[in-house]
Amino acid sequence: MTTTRVVSGMRPTGRLHLGHLVGALDNWVALQSGYDAFYFVADWHALTSHFAETSELVANAMDNVADWIGCGIDPARSTIFVQSLVPEHAELYLLLQMVTPIPWLERVPTYKELTEQLADRDLSSIGFLGYPLLQTADVTLYDANVVPVGEDQVPHLELSREVVRRFNHLYGTVLVEPQSLLTPTPRLPGLDNRKMSKSYGNTIDLSDDAAAVVKKVRQMYTDPKRVRADIPGTVEGNPVFVYHDVFNPNRGEVDDLKARYEAGKVGDVEVKTKLAAAINARLGPIRERRAAALARPGDLREIVMEGSRKARVTAVQTLQRVREAVKLVY
Ligand code: TRP
Repeated sequence: MTTTRVVSGMRPTGRLHLGHLVGALDNWVALQSGYDAFYFVADWHALTSHFAETSELVANAMDNVADWIGCGIDPARSTIFVQSLVPEHAELYLLLQMVTPIPWLERVPTYKELTEQLADRDLSSIGFLGYPLLQTADVTLYDANVVPVGEDQVPHLELSREVVRRFNHLYGTVLVEPQSLLTPTPRLPGLDNRKMSKSYGNTIDLSDDAAAVVKKVRQMYTDPKRVRADIPGTVEGNPVFVYHDVFNPNRGEVDDLKARYEAGKVGDVEVKTKLAAAINARLGPIRERRAAALARPGDLREIVMEGSRKARVTAVQTLQRVREAVKLVY
């Protein structure tokens, strides 16, 4: 019996927020049933851009894993591991580099975009150029059929498939072509209606307590033309209502708020109070499980070490197969 394998990873560059929850973790949790799921901390990927700030890396990694468990990733069902604890990622990456033309990497859209956007960072390294190729190694190492990712990552999976085809053409069919699986939820805007990003300071974090959520929601951007509650407002694309749609399970309440908002018959305070309550209802159990995981750092570490040992068993088998295909057997 073969179960389809999913593999996905996250860079440990800071605290996780609501964007990670609806853009990835909800999906990861759902995929645990029906798939053989491997989820990992992409710490080497964090180094591709953050090579000069490594002091928080391990702490972020453990904090992120606590968030994953808080959100419902079950270490008994999913393999949770750390990329750098499975050095086979690096060996496969090296072999993939041999067959990958540099222009294939230079034309990946995220490469150009991030090099321009993050002009204050030094992204001229081989490591940064190779980012999507390391990602290719991450998933092919486990014969991943399906890779749950956000839209921005689709070109990385396209590159992965191209590289796999080339590798298989040269050495025989030895690697599996991964397919991207898009997360169903559209991207959440940040509190200020820009892209949600830690660097903009416009996130609600999974680790925020209830009072912090209330405070942040109160400061959220809404329809700027509504300087008074009796002015009719726009619901479409208004982040407060985008969030209501995602986090408030009480459809009746949301529809009523929208109708009154458009009619100029509700104050922002009511809309936001109800939104904060809905987000807090969602985050409550996550916070509890997260706190419980962090309260037992030894157990948390053991989950990661055990998952990494388990991941490595598969990784070693794949590498054996790859070495044979490449004819590197002594
Ligand atoms: N590039 C991914 C991101 O930024 C993280 C990542 C690294 C990843 N390796 C992966 C995702 C392998 C899926 C599969 O979100």
